Amino acid sequence: MRHLLDTTDLSVNEINEIIALADDIIANKKKYAKLCEGKKLATLFFEPSTRTRLSFEAAMLELGGSVLGFSEAKSSSASKGETVEDTIRVVSCYADIIAMRHPVEGAPKVASYTSLVPVINAGDGGHSHPTQTMTDLLTIHREKGSFEDLTIGLCGDLKFGRTVHSLVKAMSRYKNIKFVLISPKELSVPDYIKSDYLDANGIPYTEVEKMDEVMPQLDILYMTRVQRERFFSEDEYLKHKDAFILDLKKLENAKSDLTVMHPLPRVNEIAREVDADPRAKYFEQAMNGKYIRMALIITLLRWAGELA
Ligand code: NCD
Repeated sequence: MRHLLDTTDLSVNEINEIIALADDIIANKKKYAKLCEGKKLATLFFEPSTRTRLSFEAAMLELGGSVLGFSEAKSSSASKGETVEDTIRVVSCYADIIAMRHPVEGAPKVASYTSLVPVINAGDGGHSHPTQTMTDLLTIHREKGSFEDLTIGLCGDLKFGRTVHSLVKAMSRYKNIKFVLISPKELSVPDYIKSDYLDANGIPYTEVEKMDEVMPQLDILYMTRVQRERFFSEDEYLKHKDAFILDLKKLENAKSDLTVMHPLPRVNEIAREVDADPRAKYFEQAMNGKYIRMALIITLLRWAGELA
């Protein structure tokens, strides 16, 4: 049984196939409207979500399937003390595929041990978020036409931002990629990401605390929210919450074909005035989230022998 727990569970070839499938879904929506008839997706969200949960549900509905699940831990038996293993074992009797989000790092992996159906990690604590990364890859591919020869700026909370961790892992496998890591020192990328993915793959990177001077180099600027819920103290959060605010002034020195991305939700790190700039792609990115999840549901159900 294949699950999707981290981006690196997929080979580069598999990623290309899933991206191609998502492109085909975008171009030929009708062709896929009944593909998952009779199939059920369970969305088990032990942590808040708007885009990830609803785009998963919209994806399954657009494939002709149905959805069940819960959107907060307190409305599930987790509030009675049930373990993740037991919850998943039971839900896997009711659904053909499960997307789960959990505040504990590694919880989806634990879930995969007892599940009878494919488990998709929809975000585990500060660890990883592979379906957001697939969304990001689809967006990069549609904007840039390839995954090579790109200088990628990652800006904001690079310590707790799980989407950043998964994106670095994924992009470290392509040719001529450079990262510019823009964050306060206290919120820099975890050491294991630097050693096991950047250094191990010989990917050049620089770490800076200001975005202005690096702006002209960037092909992609990936903004992130300071992850309030993962800080040990509110004071620490308050110290960093306004660390970076992207506005039109800051974009003056940027390339004309820069792609500005953000996994959303945004708090204040991108000024509203940027939304109208043609380089702002975060709402397209959110839309791509639905299409890539359609492609992922199809792929995992096929691997499980549930779809032709
Ligand atoms: C992200 C997440 O949950 O990690 N949101 C999302 O899924 N699009 C980013 C965030 O919460 O900041």
